[in-house]
Amino acid sequence: MSNTNASGRGSRVLLLGGTSEIGLAILSALDLAAATEVILAGRDPQRLEAAGKALNRPVTVARYDAMDTGSHQAFADQVCAAGVPDLVIAATGILIPQERPSGTCAAPPP
Ligand SMILES: NC(=O)c1ccc[n+]([C@@H]2O[C@H](COP(=O)([O-])OP(=O)(O)OC[C@H]3O[C@@H](n4cnc5c(N)ncnc54)[C@H](OP(=O)(O)O)[C@@H]3O)[C@@H](O)[C@H]2O)c1
Repeated sequence: MSNTNASGRGSRVLLLGGTSEIGLAILSALDLAAATEVILAGRDPQRLEAAGKALNRPVTVARYDAMDTGSHQAFADQVCAAGVPDLVIAATGILIPQERPSGTCAAPPP
């Protein structure tokens, strides 16, 4: 990703679920320019700060609770005040343990 967007500002990427395993893995896989700013949004400032330190780039943390819908407009206003993000990764959620299939598959009918 180029480090400037159409507005001429530096690129910004917003990760909703800023400590999410898959969200951070997507960020890593994107191979962003070193100066691209990442905004890590979530509920736990300390864990967000810790995740941000590992990214080795400009990082901002923002408080975001997906369940607190009354706070979302203020959150969006806060994030966008410094420029609308060029990319939003929505990784907020709960990974439910997946059961392994048991038994063996029946052979298909001849
Ligand atoms: N990992 C995978 O391979 C994979 C594959 C496909 C889909 N997914 C889906 O991707 C989502 C994230 O999975 P993950 O493996 O990254 O899980 P994870 O590491 O446990 O991350 C979940 C993230 O969601 C945040 N979160 C949960 N409830 C929130 C809320 N109410 N408001 C704000 N943030 C909230 C958590 O923040 P806190 O630290 O504050 O709890 C954490 O940052 C899940 O829905 C999962 O089903 C994951």
